[in-house]
Amino acid sequence: MGDMNFKAVLSNSQPQVEVMTSEADKVTGYRSFRIGGFEFMRDEYFARISWPAKNTRISHLMPVDAFLRAIMRDVAWGFFYGWVNFDAVVGTRNLYGKVELFGGRYYAPMKSAGLDCTETFDSPVIMATFKAILFDWVNAGFDPFAAPEETGKTVYGVKKGSNLAAIERYRVPTKRMPGMVGDSPLRSDASGFPVNRQFTDVPQDEPEVKAEPGFEKELHAFNLFKYLSRSDVTWNPSVTAVCNASLACPTTEEYILPIVHGNDRVEWFVQLSDEITWDVQDKETGALRARITMKAGDVAAMPADIKHQGYSPKRSMLFVWENATPGLPQLYESGKLKPYPVEF
Ligand code: PHB
Ligand code: FE
Repeated sequence: MGDMNFKAVLSNSQPQVEVMTSEADKVTGYRSFRIGGFEFMRDEYFARISWPAKNTRISHLMPVDAFLRAIMRDVAWGFFYGWVNFDAVVGTRNLYGKVELFGGRYYAPMKSAGLDCTETFDSPVIMATFKAILFDWVNAGFDPFAAPEETGKTVYGVKKGSNLAAIERYRVPTKRMPGMVGDSPLRSDASGFPVNRQFTDVPQDEPEVKAEPGFEKELHAFNLFKYLSRSDVTWNPSVTAVCNASLACPTTEEYILPIVHGNDRVEWFVQLSDEITWDVQDKETGALRARITMKAGDVAAMPADIKHQGYSPKRSMLFVWENATPGLPQLYESGKLKPYPVEF
């Protein structure tokens, strides 16, 4: 690490920017990548992330499957709201236009020892670098969005092909609701979305909608349980109803949320089916603050000053409710808004 030869190449993603990459390793076939002082290298089992601190280089290891699932979410969600921690140590903070990449910054033992590093990049540059890592490191047969039971073990080992279809999955943007005229489509067998193996008991009937003449394109309803039963991905909220800044983002979950999300606003969870356990930690230090098990019908608000990670022992349906009101992060950071939404 640190003595590898990197050269700038134009990204094969849009917008085209320069990405620092090495030659493919002669043994494993994988390239290494560099952005600012950070270097990313993978071998058969691990992603190795390193950064400069205290006149040396700190090197951090993550299992490569966990790393790829995490970086995939960061890319797919455009760095999301606030913090996307890949694990306790490494992650990004969205400054909306720019992105911070950090190592050890929100992990108290490293931060207090001065072994942390934070650098800020223009969003398109770090996006292109992360995409280049995914292009190179995801092998054929491995889908970072799939539940472990539903994807291959080809994530491990030396480089074997790629899986561009999985990492460039086209997400249809929803303007109001799926199934409305001119909006994103509903899911069906015919459109390539069969019912998931764990949701075969979910009723597939659609509601009957009777609109007054003239309102046929305005009044709409669909079976959300049916829609979610046909989701082919895990831990990937998709917008299914937009009302000004209120975004309904339900999702299907199985295994572990690949990131530890640090909020820059309050977000609400409604557990629609089955069960998820959440670890809730202090956003700065990682100290455990709470563990909640949510069963079907439970509602929780995640405060604006924590980070959280969920565990779903079988595939479950979760309704995530996001508030996209402009300026919210500043209101929380300045203390004008309390970090929690209700006082009892
Ligand atoms: C979250 O960070 O709140 C989150 C992200 C992805 C999910 C569910 C929750 O699938
Ligand atoms: Fe969250």
